[in-house]
Amino acid sequence: MARTIEVQPISGALGAEIVGVDLAGELSNEAFDAVHRAFLDHHVIFFRDQNNLTPEKHKAFGRRFGTLNVHPYVKGMDGHPEILEIIKEPEEKTNFGGGWHTDMSFLEEPALGSILHAIEVPPCGGDTLWANQHMAYDALSDGLKQTLGGLTAIHSAKGEYGPKGQSAHNRQSMDTTMAPDAPEFEHPVVRTHPETGRKGLYVNPAFTMHFKGWTRRESRPLLNYLFEHCRQEQFTCRFRWEAGSVAFWDNRSTWHFALNDYQGHRRHMRRVTVNGDRPF
Ligand code: SIN
Repeated sequence: MARTIEVQPISGALGAEIVGVDLAGELSNEAFDAVHRAFLDHHVIFFRDQNNLTPEKHKAFGRRFGTLNVHPYVKGMDGHPEILEIIKEPEEKTNFGGGWHTDMSFLEEPALGSILHAIEVPPCGGDTLWANQHMAYDALSDGLKQTLGGLTAIHSAKGEYGPKGQSAHNRQSMDTTMAPDAPEFEHPVVRTHPETGRKGLYVNPAFTMHFKGWTRRESRPLLNYLFEHCRQEQFTCRFRWEAGSVAFWDNRSTWHFALNDYQGHRRHMRRVTVNGDRPF
């Protein structure tokens, strides 16, 4: 008999826990539709107790939503190049994803979503936060919405994966390539979600360099204003991981931030990233 799927929101802004789905099992079309609907409605969805999710099953779930990304600067898991092993060892100081960002906005066709599976978690700490970028957009004045609607931003991995970037310093447990000459791509500052039609802000502190036609110096004050605005508490949710938990977030409508507050403990996650399309 089909299990009933429950969707339980975890905050007023975004995020819902899905109960009654075994991601390692056969997901019927009906169950897939319910998960897909919850993903679009809540922007990040969570599943507990997915301890049987093997790398193959993890990838198979991701492929229901699109093709899978092979990260250009971080080596994937042995035998599974589409899986990023996000590991922080007890003695390491920096973590992967420890700043507000949206995944892969430095590509011409950035990620649709990311599916993160917790393998080993610290006894406490290591939570992840998400911020709803539709809400951030909706909260702006009509005047600023109009101005931003006419702007394009330049995104690149060259800062974050350059010599001073945080991601470049994750070399101990993650095999990262430096990319000081990474290409630049243009994306609209206000993006329309291709599935829901909702508008949202699409700039982020990790990968947005400047506005097209503006210098970096000219861009900085407005970008800084947006970076502060977009991460306000009322737009966020926070998830406490257990081994076996899975989070699946929409990179077209959210930012996320991996907290680095578990010094002396190991944290090990596996991420599958689903490719998206060109923002408009
Ligand atoms: C990421 O940015 O993909 C990592 C998130 C996390 O480890 O919580």
